Amino acid sequence: MEYFDVIENRFSCRSFKNEKIDRALLNKVLEAGRLAPTACNYQPERIFVCESEEVLSKLKVATRYTFDAKTILIICHLKSESWHRGNDGVDHGKVDSSIVATQMVLASTALGLGTCFVCSFKEALVKEALGINDDYEVDIILPIGYPNDIKPHNQRKDLKEIVCYK
Ligand SMILES: Cc1cc2nc3c(=O)[nH]c(=O)nc-3n(C[C@H](O)[C@H](O)[C@H](O)COP(=O)(O)O)c2cc1C
Repeated sequence: MEYFDVIENRFSCRSFKNEKIDRALLNKVLEAGRLAPTACNYQPERIFVCESEEVLSKLKVATRYTFDAKTILIICHLKSESWHRGNDGVDHGKVDSSIVATQMVLASTALGLGTCFVCSFKEALVKEALGINDDYEVDIILPIGYPNDIKPHNQRKDLKEIVCYK
């Protein structure tokens, strides 16, 4: 699929077929995340692939937005590995994770898979489900699978509302 077709075809998929995704496809999605740029190339992201019944059921308590996906990717970053801006100490790990997630979402679309960015979750419960401590920040949850949904017509603001030439 051409790049701009991928951009146009992506949508937030909230219904998935009841099957695990093919391992080779999943690996391509993960590879798209691995190749993402990160601040100073520190690569603080850690991607958890959740497929076990035990973890999936714990995640259902942490967020109402799992959409019963059989595979859920969770993108976190290690706070000790991310770039903190020199002048004010702002942690850019979430920016890195967002880029990693975006590359994986677009790769998923190109491969015929569906995904949805999910940020509404209880972080403490996600960490508990993954068995990780506060060295990590949980950034984005991506339920992923074969889509049951079709792309809705989502309105976007006009360019002139969001772009400002100075
Ligand atoms: C940072 C971010 C967080 C989001 N969190 C959620 C969420 O918690 N639950 C959900 O159903 N959708 C979530 N979404 C999906 C948005 O609602 C969706 O992208 C938006 O409505 C535009 O629709 P589209 O993705 O189909 O173009 C999130 C999207 C982004 C970018």
